[in-house]
Amino acid sequence: MSGKVLVLPGDGIGVEVVPVAVKVMRKVANDAGIKLDFDEGLVGGVAIDQHGTSLPDITLNSAKTADVVLFGGVGGPKWDHLPMAERPERGLLRLRAELGLFANLRPAILFAPLAAASSLKPELVADLDVLILRELTGGIYFGEPRGVREENGEKVGFNTDIYREHEIVRIARVAFQLAEKRGRRVCSVDKANVLEVTQFWRDVVTRIHQTEFPHIELSHLYVDNAGMQLVRAPKQFDVIVTGNMFGDILSDIAAMLTGSLGMLPSASLGSTGKGLYEPVHGTAPDIAGRNFANPLATILSVAMAFRYTLNAGACADRIEKAVARVLADGVRTRDIAGDLTSVVGTVEMGEAVMAAL
Ligand code: IPM
Ligand code: MG
Repeated sequence: MSGKVLVLPGDGIGVEVVPVAVKVMRKVANDAGIKLDFDEGLVGGVAIDQHGTSLPDITLNSAKTADVVLFGGVGGPKWDHLPMAERPERGLLRLRAELGLFANLRPAILFAPLAAASSLKPELVADLDVLILRELTGGIYFGEPRGVREENGEKVGFNTDIYREHEIVRIARVAFQLAEKRGRRVCSVDKANVLEVTQFWRDVVTRIHQTEFPHIELSHLYVDNAGMQLVRAPKQFDVIVTGNMFGDILSDIAAMLTGSLGMLPSASLGSTGKGLYEPVHGTAPDIAGRNFANPLATILSVAMAFRYTLNAGACADRIEKAVARVLADGVRTRDIAGDLTSVVGTVEMGEAVMAAL
């Protein structure tokens, strides 16, 4: 078995957590006899500084030939003044679109020793295992027309929330297929009481359910209610499927239930099996460069890469077990420290995981 991995640390804490995760990836692949070729590239603010664009062609081309893109994060205050189309975030959005990565899997799993780090009562989150499936290449993130124009001497800002039928069909199928391997329940989240595009979403999801997956339980929630339910009784959910923007918001909420944004990995998949794997937390400029960041979300993203792209589920299990072990041993970065007084840094957390492997 073999594969090509493109490593894109990006900005902020991305450059701290990604190298730690790469070490884990190399070791686990070596031990399993999987030959991985690693390449590294620039994306985001650092790419703007060096190449004048957040996604240089050389990076995009390398990503197109890679099986796994391991991504850190992009953006930071240094580039916040740039016009929208030139900002670091655009590099990530283009990468998702150019690689056709329409299905974004964001599992929110609570590791038992972290129950106290959650902002919710431990009994509400104990054994939490929710999978948020976010549509990633459509909706209001990419809809046209978009922009700011003049109207009657006043400026007007606008975006377009748009879903084509095939985009809903394919994400719905992924949701039901994932549910088949888990708790066999899908909750589709929309705002069908207000937005036509999401009433259409609900209709299409319902049709795919009835015609192809009647054995899976399907429910629907409005997004405001879904947000409330996620903090009220999160264990009621198995798979949540939703559009691009609602998924962005709900996945941050779900992440926090697990104790820290620093714990949540993600996989972005298309129809070919190749994928982009990234921690959900972003670049955290406030703690960047200080060896504070929690590398576990990125390490768990590597586990997802083994599972979903490299078809090496045993390697994924091995990494997840090592992370669980380290947490059970009380090793904590500051974001998940709770009342524990001794905390370790990014590098030390990585070493602890390597030792547990
Ligand atoms: C995420 C992030 C991105 C998004 C930003 C950085 C463009 O918030 O992956 O959730 O909104 O998709
Ligand atoms: Mg987000």
